[in-house]
Amino acid sequence: METPRIVDIFKQGQPHQEVVVQGWIRTKRELKDFAFLEVNDGSCLANLQVILAPELPDYPELLKQLNIGSSVQITGKLVESPGKGQKIELKAQEVRIYGNSNPETYPLQKKRHSFEFLRTIGHLRSRTNSIGAVMRIRNTCGQAIHEFFQSRGFIWVHTPIITANDCEGAGELFTVTSLDLNNPPKTAAQELDYSQDFFGRRAYLTVSGQLEAEVMASAFSRVYTFGPTFRAENSNTSRHLAEFWMVEPEMAFCDLQGNQDLAEAFLKQIFKTVLEKCPEDLEFFNQRIDNSVIATAENIVNNEFARITYTEAIALLEKADRKFEYPVEWGIDLQSEHERYLAEELFKKPLIVRDYPAGIKAFYMRLNDDQKTVAAMDILVPKIGEIIGGSQREERLDVLETRITPEARTELWWYLDLRRYGTVPHSGFGLGFERLVQFMTGMGNIRDVIPFPRTPMSAEF
Ligand code: 4AD
Ligand code: MG
Repeated sequence: METPRIVDIFKQGQPHQEVVVQGWIRTKRELKDFAFLEVNDGSCLANLQVILAPELPDYPELLKQLNIGSSVQITGKLVESPGKGQKIELKAQEVRIYGNSNPETYPLQKKRHSFEFLRTIGHLRSRTNSIGAVMRIRNTCGQAIHEFFQSRGFIWVHTPIITANDCEGAGELFTVTSLDLNNPPKTAAQELDYSQDFFGRRAYLTVSGQLEAEVMASAFSRVYTFGPTFRAENSNTSRHLAEFWMVEPEMAFCDLQGNQDLAEAFLKQIFKTVLEKCPEDLEFFNQRIDNSVIATAENIVNNEFARITYTEAIALLEKADRKFEYPVEWGIDLQSEHERYLAEELFKKPLIVRDYPAGIKAFYMRLNDDQKTVAAMDILVPKIGEIIGGSQREERLDVLETRITPEARTELWWYLDLRRYGTVPHSGFGLGFERLVQFMTGMGNIRDVIPFPRTPMSAEF
């Protein structure tokens, strides 16, 4: 017999129907004449209640073995549930235990656990309601992202994870090497000799797929990447990971205005899809984590984002009725406290800030006519701050050459070549996938929205 997922049983199951269910026991309750199990298979938040009656073979022995955390297969008949809330439950006819669990030592008990504690049991925490709901929403976001781009004719391209360039120029790179670090080859200057390394040069884990996405956009017009990126920035914050997933569309024949329009439509579409497909999980976050989660999602779908320039943002910050830790003046990089003040308190919705000072942004951003600012845009949202960073790219070879360091100019000869052979105005952005999921769920720490977080001093699971 086909084994349905529990989510489908709740949707389609009819009383008297015979089903086979497989999952893990969340709780066991023994009454005088019956026992109840709550079984979960990860397909939805709700557990399926299973009734065990004494007529089952070896009932007393069976009960002893059915413990919280055990994996089981239960064959039985669906019956209407007398309890309120759930309309269907399962009356067991046959129980098979795949793997027993020791209820004394199983780290997940019925009570609520702190997220800090759950991080110490990364191999088991996905069996909790909260991490389970996060991962389902994460999955739906991923699906919505592909659908958004695919329905607009974007080609999904796979950019390399190992690269020789530092796209963002921030020096937050992890080196990839196969040299024997206990006995490495050295140059005359006593530095590591990467010419003898695997790739014959120094290589890194990528911080962004953008430069390669620009190559692909110069052939396919509209492309996107969706892959892991790595940053060795030593920030132990609730919004930074050393390994995170980034979605990066890149569009030829597109300026900053088009870039902003796409990014706004993109976020709206993702929130709309999650509202439609994950109402139960969203409701869970709304009740347990942050009671503004659903209102925020609806606000994003239904209202236009605010759009201002960096210069306007600075003026607003200077007028603010508070002191910031980092003083405000034209030319500073916006800190998270500034970003949050703007999005959370002033505009109370997503805000696109554009035209940042050239000095604080990456070399590839297009220089504006004022010669002071670049055609950059960041999307700032309440609670998180920056969720998307993007720009129109510098497509003029002569201008790009003035913005690039001499070393990068040699290394990125192929990137400059794009400006020699059929250059076009083009734009793109990067969405931090975990920041999106964090924003959507209201989760306080980014480490709890990725299955296996990588942060300074932590890569256990
Ligand atoms: O603003 P960033 O650095 O932009 C880029 O990398 C561009 N190359 C993107 C592009 O134009 N194609 O990073 C993009 C987004 C940020 O807005 C943020 O949401 C996320 O990536 N991000 C991080 N997320 C988690 N942990 C970190 N350490 C992050 N650093 C950036
Ligand atoms: Mg950025």
